[in-house]
Amino acid sequence: MTARSSNSAFIEVRKLSKHFGDFVAVDAVSLKIERGELFSILGGSGCGKTTLLRMLAGFETPTSGQVFLDGVDITNQPPYERPVNMMFQSYAVFPHMTVEQNVAYGLKKERLPKEETASRVREMLSLVKLDDFGARKPNQLSGGQRQRVALARALVKKPKVLLLDEPLAALDKKLREHTQFELMNIQDELGITFVVVTHDQEEAMILSNRIAVMEKGRFEQIGTPKEVYEFPRNRFVADFIGTINTFDGVVQNSGDGIVTVASDECGQSLRALCDKPPKNGSDVCIAVRPEKIFISQYKPDNHEDACLEGVVEDLGYFGNLSLYRIRLATGKVVQVSSQNRRRSIERSFDWDDNVYISWRPRSALVLEP
Ligand SMILES: Nc1ncnc2c1ncn2[C@@H]1O[C@H](COP(=O)(O)OP(=O)(O)O)[C@@H](O)[C@H]1O
Ligand SMILES: [Mg+2]
Repeated sequence: MTARSSNSAFIEVRKLSKHFGDFVAVDAVSLKIERGELFSILGGSGCGKTTLLRMLAGFETPTSGQVFLDGVDITNQPPYERPVNMMFQSYAVFPHMTVEQNVAYGLKKERLPKEETASRVREMLSLVKLDDFGARKPNQLSGGQRQRVALARALVKKPKVLLLDEPLAALDKKLREHTQFELMNIQDELGITFVVVTHDQEEAMILSNRIAVMEKGRFEQIGTPKEVYEFPRNRFVADFIGTINTFDGVVQNSGDGIVTVASDECGQSLRALCDKPPKNGSDVCIAVRPEKIFISQYKPDNHEDACLEGVVEDLGYFGNLSLYRIRLATGKVVQVSSQNRRRSIERSFDWDDNVYISWRPRSALVLEP
């Protein structure tokens, strides 16, 4: 008799842990993934991503907790009985076999009829746009093409779930961006549920429906890319995803969904929107993304906004945007990014310019320090 999961999630992980001796690599994580999602597990090196993925694949036995797939408890199923496949990095392609043989390998082991094997292989090679490369050996392919062979090999057995561990880490930046879109198209076409592990926050943001941000074996936040970016639950997530300015301070008062925080770091009080304001006197930090900050030569006359005065300490021009580092009188440095919308003869800012930086209270977040 197999236990059923209590709800409709396609993959459910319930309080899953993995200990290696005294060391806790995965610490009682819970997670629900819907059918057809492209879900990312994002975190720094050593936070437990691969261990978690290996437990989903069945290569690692959990210390405690359960894994359900389509309502069925698969915690104790061996890997080959799970309708789950794992894509390894491109160097796991067999070098002595042709592309076709590599892709056919999994089916051969299942003793599928020759014709069916050949047609499935053709279908997969076409899907990853390698139709004309079947007879080549892996060393006659580019890195991106090898990665696509690994993908075709993992998909040919039509798994319900594909697990991908840092699938694009070996590719250079341009190719990685290109391959990200291919991966999304293929996932969309097949409707298979993908779980992708990555340490690259940009990649997770681009690829995924939802992201779990992982740190020290635990999930810090699970949400859509927009949720984790715009509404990080804590300072760790705010810092990990993108760039954010933080100002430590103490809550002075709050009301009507607005919190006022006295911050020595910027030499004045800051206001931020907040549904559940912390108590007066508590330590908090106010966080603002660089692109939410407006930079100007003259002091803006909107008194609702936060406004700080500073000096341009550093600047960088990146074509589509400019980045500034502004030093306040307190010594605090604030990062500001500004879109270069026009090919402008407008005055831009230069080193040592005196400037004002401002933002709306709704652009600021109140986080635990
Ligand atoms: N077989 C193992 N024995 C002991 N420690 C391990 C083993 N596998 C992984 N670890 C440890 O568990 C932690 C998480 O590893 P891993 O899941 O590979 O992290 P990530 O994939 O996020 O980089 C690391 O500190 C790693 O050294
Ligand atoms: Mg890993």
